[in-house]
Amino acid sequence: MKKYYTIRLEPLDKKVEVPKGTPLKDVLFSYGVEFPCGGKGLCGGCRVKVLKGDIFLDERHKSLLKKLNLDLSWRLACQSYVTGDVTLEIGQFDTFILADSSPFRFKPREGYGIAFDLGTTTMVAQVVNLHTGEVMGVETAVNPQAQHGADVISRIEYAVFRDGQETLTRLVREKFAIMINRLIRKTCGVVPEKIVVVGNTVMHHLFCGKDLTPMASYPFETSDRGSCHFTPKELGLKTDDHTDIEFLPVLGSFVGSDILAGILAIGMAESEDPLILVDLGTNGEIVVGNRDRILCASTAAGPAFEGTNIHMGMRATTGAISSVTKSEEGIRVHIIGNEKARGICGSGLIDAIAVFLETGKIDTGGKIAGESDHINLTPKVYLTQRDIRELQLAKGAVASGIQILRETLGFAPEDIRNVYVSGAFGSFINLENTRRIGLLKYPEEKIIKMGNTALLGAKMSLFENGDKIRDILQKTTHLSLETTPHFQDIFAENMMF
Ligand code: FES
Repeated sequence: MKKYYTIRLEPLDKKVEVPKGTPLKDVLFSYGVEFPCGGKGLCGGCRVKVLKGDIFLDERHKSLLKKLNLDLSWRLACQSYVTGDVTLEIGQFDTFILADSSPFRFKPREGYGIAFDLGTTTMVAQVVNLHTGEVMGVETAVNPQAQHGADVISRIEYAVFRDGQETLTRLVREKFAIMINRLIRKTCGVVPEKIVVVGNTVMHHLFCGKDLTPMASYPFETSDRGSCHFTPKELGLKTDDHTDIEFLPVLGSFVGSDILAGILAIGMAESEDPLILVDLGTNGEIVVGNRDRILCASTAAGPAFEGTNIHMGMRATTGAISSVTKSEEGIRVHIIGNEKARGICGSGLIDAIAVFLETGKIDTGGKIAGESDHINLTPKVYLTQRDIRELQLAKGAVASGIQILRETLGFAPEDIRNVYVSGAFGSFINLENTRRIGLLKYPEEKIIKMGNTALLGAKMSLFENGDKIRDILQKTTHLSLETTPHFQDIFAENMMF
């Protein structure tokens, strides 16, 4: 009997030889297949189609496929092992990674630095010449922890309940070292004097090797929020041992140093006028404030905006409907990569709801007109009544968060000078439609799409001596929205379109 089998991957036209019994998950992750539920067999996000050959299917796997409405030509990669030569079709899961090229003010100094944004999904690093501010090299990667779950909650579960904390720490540190070593090679061996890393609180804990247990159960709080310093040797970097590697401190259990960096990037702590920062990533983080006082909070908004929890939802990759407009025939959709539509991503979802509100297919309570429980966008892609409810929950959470923080600080909507929207998703949204559905209720001219504020802030902090970061930490208070009086009423009101 053969000991090795061949897996062919379509449409990538790749061939991989692996030993019999290899988990498909180990092979496919490096080809971009994602494992949103961390391999529990519940989400179907890791599904692959068997085009030729076979992969053994047991009764449990069969019933999981049935629950997900998938026929027997599919396999869940997280439940599969290589049992023979096979040809699989995998989607084009090319993750979009947002770097940063915004200009910023700085005081020139000698040397080089590296800014590193460690996201739940993606990782991006830039080498900066501290004398000119020029970005000399960029490295991006998918966070290798993603094979153990797409969001922070599944990473916490894997770390705490499946004994995976060490694995997650090792995976992310190894990838970090590969990226930094590559950047140093690319830039002909520059020696960074400082590497600043930012990320959400779960990434902070995993990178720094801090215990995630307190974040796994009520009240989901961690007190271990400080910055962490490492030497290059500790992290396996091939560079001078004088380089200081610092993971910046976090602001709260679910508001990390990516947001701290964002506050620095938009200059909130120095602004006389109040500003708002909204990061619409996997979590929806919100910050409101000015040079006197800053409040921050997190909401469970991300899943809908990132396509999770939406029946035909997907990330903004090939085959996703990314925008919807009204046309004479009804609607016109734009599909990423000009391919057949496979699903809809967050920006398309916002557009679709805005258009259906305008055309009366959905009422202001979010109910689909008539008897149907879904609305088609293409013959195969549709939105369900539940999807609309999911979006209502997400946009209601963000809008309520902004309102509560603003009112707690005593600002009226018209006092706000600008609303900065950060994150990859924020770069693609149609501002008029975010206003139409009540997600961001501010005049369009006040809203600024800022891209990756985490990376920009990390770069800016390379030029600082730490005073500005300390100033932000001193001025910022984390607020738990759910415990705010009237939260439920405000939330219910903001769920309406
Ligand atoms: S079904 Fe969710 S990762 Fe496989």
